Amino acid sequence: MSAVFYLTTPIYYMNGEPHIGHTYATVVADTLARYHRLCGERTFLLTGSDEHGEKVLEAAAERGVPPQEITDHYSAIFRSTWDELGLHYDRFIRTTEPAHRQVVQGILQTLFDRGQIYFQEYGGNYCVGCERFLTERDLVDGLCRDHERAPEHRTESNYFFKMTEHFEWLVGHFEEHPDFVRPERYRNEALAMLRDESGLGDLCISRPKSRLHWGIELPFDADYVCYVWFDALVNYLTGAGYPDGEEFPEFWSECQHVIGKDILKPHAIFWPTMLHALGVEPPRHLNVHGFWNVDDRKVSKSLGNMVAPLIMRDRYGFDAFRYYLMRDMVFGLDASFSEEALVARVNADLANNLGNLVSRTLNMTERFTEGRVPEPGPGDEPERAVESALAQAVAEVDRRVREMALHRALEAILRAVDAANRYLEQREPWKAAKDPERAGGVATTLYTCCEALRITALLLSPFLPEKSAEILARLGLEGALKGARLPADASWGRIPVGSPTSVGKPLFPRIESEEQPA
Ligand code: MSP
Repeated sequence: MSAVFYLTTPIYYMNGEPHIGHTYATVVADTLARYHRLCGERTFLLTGSDEHGEKVLEAAAERGVPPQEITDHYSAIFRSTWDELGLHYDRFIRTTEPAHRQVVQGILQTLFDRGQIYFQEYGGNYCVGCERFLTERDLVDGLCRDHERAPEHRTESNYFFKMTEHFEWLVGHFEEHPDFVRPERYRNEALAMLRDESGLGDLCISRPKSRLHWGIELPFDADYVCYVWFDALVNYLTGAGYPDGEEFPEFWSECQHVIGKDILKPHAIFWPTMLHALGVEPPRHLNVHGFWNVDDRKVSKSLGNMVAPLIMRDRYGFDAFRYYLMRDMVFGLDASFSEEALVARVNADLANNLGNLVSRTLNMTERFTEGRVPEPGPGDEPERAVESALAQAVAEVDRRVREMALHRALEAILRAVDAANRYLEQREPWKAAKDPERAGGVATTLYTCCEALRITALLLSPFLPEKSAEILARLGLEGALKGARLPADASWGRIPVGSPTSVGKPLFPRIESEEQPA
């Protein structure tokens, strides 16, 4: 385990409100950061807004406002949404910040001075509707696929980064670091792009102001602004204090990005080559996730199926929503979102399995041991089986989180909960309490369940921060998450005997089908 952990989400385009895609990446990042923090690593989570480029300019034009106004508007919405949902970040970066502009311009100048940037005229198919040069893929029967009109032949001069010079090095980097891009399917995809020489040339990193003025000005030519992806990727450096931040070298050496599969190319190809030209190490991992489709359709504004996170929070509680997002998506693969699936998942895992253990344990502690965690006896085989189920979960969660298999980490925790529920069924404290021969064992049974719950809550806390804190509070351990450490605090036998328990309202009420929206 390293001492620090630096994690980033993509910076989101400021042309609309946060939807399920943005929320998923931010939830994953928040969970990972919480986990690493719980393990005692100094953790820094960066998120923010991508404010330049054509998408933002288009959104501003549609609304008839200046681009800065629209980015101020949406970036405030993104920020307040994450705050309201309890998604924690250490820095929210905006690419229109002067500090970021300075870093981007400094990098451009360095690369220019090193001869890594050249100026060239080129010609191509330009679509007036798109206001950009089209590639072969944008054409259908010789017409622009969006505007269904023939492009014009135009020439333009631009600045190019000598990206291809770094490809040989990059292939070597992929070979030496097989988990640089993960899961593996995306590593293969990136390598295929890299080997398909026809698909990639040097990277055009400028746009003439006459065509696009909304961007960071090139320090060596005031007639041009920087290409939005070049500017956007650099946010990861700015956010960590590049170039002179005291902590930059340490945090950068443990940098990992979370990205969606559609932005693999800029992250797996452009970004490492830019860093290599600068003499900065590539990030340790690119963690690539798939897409959420909603009711089996692509998420899009026109379909109105964006899944607003605040609405989900109001309907189901945010912990339930985040649980579903992480449990039902195999990291790296696409998944299909539906409220029916969410309800089914939450009812099965949280209401029935975990909720049952919580309510039975607390109710019986109230009834049979005066609302206190009882002193246990020595215990027997069944008690040791529960202890070992929890120990296994602690080890497996660590492995799974670190390999980005969050759904598997949750499965492992729920397996331990299952074991504790089966143990309760076996010990039947509700019957044993009335049987003079077995009544003496009830304290041991309830102690075992309280301790299993405590460890479960600790393990779940990065995934379900609110509900875990609530479980701990009901075990008389309010505030226990502050300063808690994994794995030490997850070792068996740490719950204080005599801790006051409380039953409270059901933590995970079953969502009844009549409450489901149509
Ligand atoms: N601004 C760029 C990223 C620059 S990072 C240096 C961008 N922004 S975005 O707002 O369009 O998308 C941000 C992220 O949301 C991407 O990782 C994208 O994969 C993700 N998602 C957008 N829709 C999604 C789904 N339907 N499902 C899951 N994630 C998807 O790209």
